[in-house]
Amino acid sequence: MNKRIAFIPGDGIGVDVTAEAVKVLATLIKARSLPLEYVTFDWGAEKYLREGVSLPKDALEMFRRDYYAIFIGALGDPRVPSNQHAADILLGIRFGLDLYANQRPVKLLDSRLCPLKHRGTQDVNFVIFRENTEGLYVGMGGNFKRGTPDEVAIQEDVNTRKGVERVIVHAFEYARRTGRKKLCMSDKANALPFGHGLWQRVFAEVKSKFPEIEARHLYVDTLAMELVRDPSQFDVIVTCNMFGDILSDLGAQLQGGLGLAPSANLNPGNVSMFETVHGSAPPLAGKNVANPMAAILTVGMMLDDLGFSPEAVKIESVVADALHQEKSTIDVGGKLGTREVGDWICSNL
Ligand code: IPM
Ligand code: MN
Repeated sequence: MNKRIAFIPGDGIGVDVTAEAVKVLATLIKARSLPLEYVTFDWGAEKYLREGVSLPKDALEMFRRDYYAIFIGALGDPRVPSNQHAADILLGIRFGLDLYANQRPVKLLDSRLCPLKHRGTQDVNFVIFRENTEGLYVGMGGNFKRGTPDEVAIQEDVNTRKGVERVIVHAFEYARRTGRKKLCMSDKANALPFGHGLWQRVFAEVKSKFPEIEARHLYVDTLAMELVRDPSQFDVIVTCNMFGDILSDLGAQLQGGLGLAPSANLNPGNVSMFETVHGSAPPLAGKNVANPMAAILTVGMMLDDLGFSPEAVKIESVVADALHQEKSTIDVGGKLGTREVGDWICSNL
């Protein structure tokens, strides 16, 4: 029986780059007889505007029942200024399938692309685990006296014992499994003593169960500074939803930009979702200019999760070759279009 993958191209350059990523997936399925198949879903701005449907009612149940992975392109379209469909689909899947660990690796594949002076591939290689189901993203709050000079806006930050503990444990287990030696937990407990005080207490308990991992804590402002000053000190980072969002863009830049940053939304043992860190970049859509490498590396993360790690390793090495040989788009120093980069990678796989 083939394992089934749901493919959602999304909006904007999401469509352009996932087309190349799926070409890579199809190439590997064929060349290595992988027992995988994919089914395409046209969810995104177009369908939302046409039919008023963002995430169909039975979608989550269907994923749980029939799918092993979801591969999704970026969502966002200027014709939906509220971005409601994107929130429904992306956050709907993250929350609905309880994908609590958002894994965002930061690995510099080509020293030339690092924006820091005197830093190379040996200095930038860490993994961010972002809590993905709570924090400031839960959508609890409201506006009082909206639109008046007395307006009050409340956005709650929800941190649960269970939610904090499982992502910290996941990050430690990942470090143990992959031989990474150091783990940094980051919060802002000095200013947010209730919510992030919980992170501190849970971290202290969990780290005692992983004595072989060097565990450290940094407030998030210090971490942002240290990531730029000397990224080589980091191996695994675990943090809350909002800080993980911000730090993963910082990390993306350390590895050469958003065009190279993949991510996985995981609930280990259950169906997971794979997406690039970048957005839908509407002005670039359909112009054959977007960098498909983040999406292609995301296919690598998905294959790794599905148990095909040699293929994941191969994808990363061919992407690195493409970067070294400048078989790449303009954002990373090449002259090729989106499709040509996809073709080059497929033929070098
Ligand atoms: C990301 C994105 C999303 C997030 C947006 C589109 C809601 O920035 O995946 O990093 O903040 O999680
Ligand atoms: Mn983001």
